Amino acid sequence: MNPLLLPLVLPGVYAPQEDTALLAGALAEEPLRPGADVLDVGTGSGALAIEAARRGTRVTAVDVSWRAVCTARANAWVAGVPVRIRRGNLFAPVRDRSFDLILTNPPYVPAPMGIRPRGPARAWDAGRDGRFVVDRICREASPLLRPGGVLLMVHSALSDPDRTLVHLRTAGLKASVTRRSRIAFGPVVRGRADWLRQRGLLSPADEKEELVVVRAELPV
Ligand SMILES: C[S@@+](CC[C@H](N)C(=O)[O-])C[C@H]1O[C@@H](n2cnc3c(N)ncnc32)[C@H](O)[C@@H]1O
Repeated sequence: MNPLLLPLVLPGVYAPQEDTALLAGALAEEPLRPGADVLDVGTGSGALAIEAARRGTRVTAVDVSWRAVCTARANAWVAGVPVRIRRGNLFAPVRDRSFDLILTNPPYVPAPMGIRPRGPARAWDAGRDGRFVVDRICREASPLLRPGGVLLMVHSALSDPDRTLVHLRTAGLKASVTRRSRIAFGPVVRGRADWLRQRGLLSPADEKEELVVVRAELPV
């Protein structure tokens, strides 16, 4: 089923987009045994959690937004798949657990106004370098992975994938970029394109943004 076509997305919840689809493609390629433990951090509508649950895995999903939690619960119920959905800040609700796969499409857009976004912007704004949440994930995901476990994270080339690779390797993971996709600017990037150009994150000729999927595996 197309993960972009969910029946319910409450106002203020991130509707599945190209980044969701790119990560769903990477998820589809990941070998997963039935009953494997999967975590979807920043689940939003629950699209990725539901895709993983359809493969017979045991999925836990977390989001900081109550609206997202309600949306994801409703969508999992409509899809007829079991997903444990918790409200919380990144890994806080699952500190005592371990996982075979961690999925995440975190906020990653560089934002002129710093690191305290409010309302729907919490889904995309991520500090001036776009790394406020990405860096936390790089630091905090590895202890939650089982040996052989995998982190799949999508973010923009605007938020420095090379730095992500360095941080994940420093945390003991084997990390690489496994997928890339160039997409037209969405409304958020279009609205701050001049600022991104002033900062040298976009060139004057850039009309598209590149998304990447980073895959990082904890060696056995
Ligand atoms: C880009 S959206 C992705 C939603 C969904 N996973 C998808 O791919 O369509 C990012 C999500 O992360 C959530 N989020 C932001 N900061 C968070 C945090 N500190 N802890 C948990 N979730 C967070 C937002 O509420 C939002 O639902």
